[in-house]
Amino acid sequence: MGDRVRHLLSAADLSGEEISFLLDVAGRLKQRPQRLLEGRQLALLFEKPSLRTRVSFQVAMRHLGGETIYLAPQEVGLGEREAIKDVARVLGRYVDIVAVRTFGQVIVEEYAQHSTIPVINALTNEEHPCQALADLLTVKEKVGDLRGVPIAFVGDGNNVAASLVLTATSLGMDMRMASPKGYSLPEWLISEASARASRFGGALTIVNDPVQAVTGARCVYTDVWTSMGQERESERRRIDFAGYQLNTALLAHAAPGAFVMHDLPAHRGEEITDEAIESPASIVFDQAENRVWAQAAAVAFLLGVSGHVA
Ligand code: CP
Ligand code: NVA
Repeated sequence: MGDRVRHLLSAADLSGEEISFLLDVAGRLKQRPQRLLEGRQLALLFEKPSLRTRVSFQVAMRHLGGETIYLAPQEVGLGEREAIKDVARVLGRYVDIVAVRTFGQVIVEEYAQHSTIPVINALTNEEHPCQALADLLTVKEKVGDLRGVPIAFVGDGNNVAASLVLTATSLGMDMRMASPKGYSLPEWLISEASARASRFGGALTIVNDPVQAVTGARCVYTDVWTSMGQERESERRRIDFAGYQLNTALLAHAAPGAFVMHDLPAHRGEEITDEAIESPASIVFDQAENRVWAQAAAVAFLLGVSGHVA
């Protein structure tokens, strides 16, 4: 079931050409919102808290003339109150598209296997593709052509890093990633991103030393050391990530005026300093704003109307 339906579960589900196309559509929708989704409904099935993802999907759908239904954590009990495949089949009878925020990637994969409507990953433990699209739309607005632009991610090889690395290499960027030993990205993802970097004229460098990753970078990105669901590891992580803070000393190695990036929520004083996040080079709130347009483009694409965007 659902074999011919397109989903966005991983950034790797999109080809490099499709990623470039989505950024273009997102930019055009931001310039001129268009009511392409009149009468269409998006369900937001969320098993973790959210500010940006929830509100930006709701606002995006409103801009496109559609509607949203929000299902909060504890309401549906995906795989607990009811089998995942049953939830997928029921929601498909009510709405046109669903964005799922949950724990394991295997959950959205199982959900999508049984879904007759497109499924968007609104964050899993392993990926956050909507975030990466918004992030690189933001960088594109600032620098123009993304090809060859050096971007460094410093910190955990988590969901945000995974989708960023896949997306940046698909756009031919010079992607550098520095994380402590034991916190790197999965092997399959490094191979996939390396292949994309070769294909699209970019580069992928994976190191442990933050200074090496950041040297000459035009964008320096970080995310929390402890993600949702990992709270019991937070003490250990604070120790393991010491030295990986995005601060003024680290930024001194980047290109002059390098953009400071964070997906938010930030733990100020841990992975990023107040000074860095409040600096004139910080684009964190532009990233948050662009979630609306990146997701509007993704929904339009999956519902087959992105070709109508003027
Ligand atoms: N960046 C992001 O996804 O934020 P929320 O967890 O608030 O949705
Ligand atoms: N890595 C973070 C991102 C939050 C948007 C988490 O999963 O909690």
